[in-house]
Amino acid sequence: MREFLPKNIVVTGGAGFIGSNFVHWMVDNQPDVHVTVLDALTYAGNRESLAGISDDRMSFVRGDICDVDLVDRLFSDVDAVVHFAAESHNDNSIADPEPFLRTNVRGTFVLLEAARKHGVRFHHISTDEVYGDLALDDPSRFTEETPYRPSSPYSSTKASSDLLVRAWHRTYGVEATISNCSNNYGPRQHIEKFIPRQITNILCGIRPKLYGDGLNVRDWIHTEDHSSAVWAILTRGRIGETYLIGADGERSNVDVLHAILKGMGRSTDDFDWVRDRPGHDRRYAIDASKLRAELGWEPVHTDFTKGLASTIEWYKENGGWWRGSKDATEAKYAKQEQRGNQ
Ligand code: NAD
Ligand code: TYD
Repeated sequence: MREFLPKNIVVTGGAGFIGSNFVHWMVDNQPDVHVTVLDALTYAGNRESLAGISDDRMSFVRGDICDVDLVDRLFSDVDAVVHFAAESHNDNSIADPEPFLRTNVRGTFVLLEAARKHGVRFHHISTDEVYGDLALDDPSRFTEETPYRPSSPYSSTKASSDLLVRAWHRTYGVEATISNCSNNYGPRQHIEKFIPRQITNILCGIRPKLYGDGLNVRDWIHTEDHSSAVWAILTRGRIGETYLIGADGERSNVDVLHAILKGMGRSTDDFDWVRDRPGHDRRYAIDASKLRAELGWEPVHTDFTKGLASTIEWYKENGGWWRGSKDATEAKYAKQEQRGNQ
């Protein structure tokens, strides 16, 4: 298999959770690659997430992926783009879907047009949520052949962006690959998301909040394993193909919350049950056989309890990174509760 070894890549959304972890992973593991981060620094982006990376390894451009001229300029000079930038939170998409359409759909279109013009290799980061959900008692898992059936404004805009990438590959020959990954956890995740919200609630003396009956299942993967999988697909994946990324990490939300409470020395009933999310997907589960068999990828963070403990430690040690956004995040949730999230 011929390996594609880019020298200069653009990482969109590189100041977000998964994007910043990917940039750190690249800096630590791929010494010959220069990264240009393109990030609008929305409420979800944090320049501090890239602290400590030297200028000779990374340039940072604050800008919008919908800015045609800026994207055109950046793409004239690189071999590849790894596209993480998105509006990424389901609850926000239910309250206000418009930014999701703009960034996830239009933004991906702008990037694809520039990739077409400049012959840039395109790796698109997506989610398993495009496949909708599975029943708790269904033994099956998502594969690359599972039909798209997104449930939320977030997942439907991600599904739309995947379809654009497929069309730009087939019609215009853009050299593209797509990965659909399961739920990530690890350092630098925005505190609106399930795991860091509960950890930071406990650190602030607020009771954790569990939606519905708490039996919904997510398939957790450590974000570093996502990074190594993306690199494997970018460099050795077949053009035009989709690869699912997952690490056999299915757990119910109530089990995850119990693990957090135990890991932080709290009683396992020390939380509140709250109103369910409308349209709440029941279960996600990934069959990553194609990625493992074709590209030989394996996750290294296979012990969830250990990965969770180091994530808890990270939030304890990095209060400066998240404390400034805690009040605003919880105020958003309080409004959601009042509205019934409709
Ligand atoms: P995030 O919300 O933490 O980060 C998104 C980043 O994109 C932020 O830095 C933000 O400033 C930037 N951004 C948003 N709109 C922009 C715009 N118009 N122009 C430029 N930059 C913009 O998200 P995340 O959780 O790191 O997710 C990254 C990607 O991975 C997304 O595409 C998401 O769909 C996908 N994904 C996430 C998960 C997960 O568990 N979080 C799982 C699978 C796939
Ligand atoms: P989330 O991190 O929003 O990811 P996603 O919706 O993409 O799966 O939520 C993960 C799960 O946790 C999901 O089933 C919703 C649930 N959840 C809670 O129970 N309480 C919370 O406070 C949040 C934010 C999520």
